[in-house]
Amino acid sequence: MERLKVGIVGLGSWGLCHLEAYRDLPFVEVAAVSDIRPERRQLAKEQYGVPHVFEDAESMMQLPEIGLVSVVTYEQDHLRPALLALSAGKNVLVEKPVATKTEEARMMREAAEKSGKFIVPGHLLRFEPKYAEIRRMIAAGELGKVASIYMKRSRESSLFRTYRRTHTVHELMVHDLDQAIWYAGGRVKRVYANGRFPPGTDSPEVLWAHLAFDNGVIAVLHANWMTPDEAGIAINDCTEVIGDKGTACFDTVAAGVQLLGAGGRRTTDLSVHRNQDGRVTGALKEQLAYVSLCAMNGTDPDMLSFEDAIHGLEVAEAIAASAWEGRVVDL
Ligand SMILES: NC(=O)c1ccc[n+]([C@@H]2O[C@H](COP(=O)([O-])OP(=O)(O)OC[C@H]3O[C@@H](n4cnc5c(N)ncnc54)[C@H](O)[C@@H]3O)[C@@H](O)[C@H]2O)c1
Repeated sequence: MERLKVGIVGLGSWGLCHLEAYRDLPFVEVAAVSDIRPERRQLAKEQYGVPHVFEDAESMMQLPEIGLVSVVTYEQDHLRPALLALSAGKNVLVEKPVATKTEEARMMREAAEKSGKFIVPGHLLRFEPKYAEIRRMIAAGELGKVASIYMKRSRESSLFRTYRRTHTVHELMVHDLDQAIWYAGGRVKRVYANGRFPPGTDSPEVLWAHLAFDNGVIAVLHANWMTPDEAGIAINDCTEVIGDKGTACFDTVAAGVQLLGAGGRRTTDLSVHRNQDGRVTGALKEQLAYVSLCAMNGTDPDMLSFEDAIHGLEVAEAIAASAWEGRVVDL
């Protein structure tokens, strides 16, 4: 079987997860990696045997055999590699947040329309079974008409030292924004948000956002970086969707495998990405398998929606403004 050749731009902590997950797909070959840091290029070549490594993404795009590119650079640096890939005739998966400025995401959409190739957002929760099951229940009418959505996303406080580089709405809440838009099946028209901003940062460590959709659905999203690392819970999230026929909900607080050891509790999450002795599981691999097969077969990757991602960024900008200025924002 002819394998799909894939290129990865940005081999940081999450780019490495892309590399591991692609390598576990028998119909995919990671043909090239681009990273501005020499040690990451060395890692790709020496430890993972990636045949081509480049400092600059533009050179990587010259390889005609590459059919799909993952853009996994810093949050605010997705535009250039995405445009380079599209203009070179590659399909693109761009990590969340697709961009930190909505205008840049619109430029990506336009470039994709011109190139005839697809660009999809890295919103992997659509492939996580618990999240996807709620969407299935909504589509099957099992909840009736959706009235209310609540989603919480809590992360360990040490991560905030790295990820305060990007506003919490783009770094963390953007996942739940995409889910809320997917579940509600409408567009947000009004936002009110509150944030708690530690001194010296314009990214909140706690963020609450109240959303009103044009179809009457109400949503409350809550993101925070306040879980002490010592608590031993990396992912502490929950979702509740209330309809007029029923409620669907889950809580991940004890969903990972817990080790209760002499040093306290450690929880290993298996839902997003896990490399178990070389065998990869999780939503990232599911998403990359789906997108790779769409690139190979020329099918529409309609499980993901770039339009929803653009709307998510419009809402994210409204949330950031509301939390900073303390006012209701209409879209
Ligand atoms: N979908 C998810 O659940 C998920 C999880 C984690 C991170 N992410 C996203 O993935 C992206 C990367 O996050 P990370 O945690 O891996 O960041 P990181 O800082 O660990 O890595 C970024 C990498 O990009 C490289 N880079 C930067 N500019 C480049 C360029 N122009 N060309 C080539 N390489 C370049 C850097 O050298 C670095 O190795 C972010 O958008 C982040 O939000 C998504």
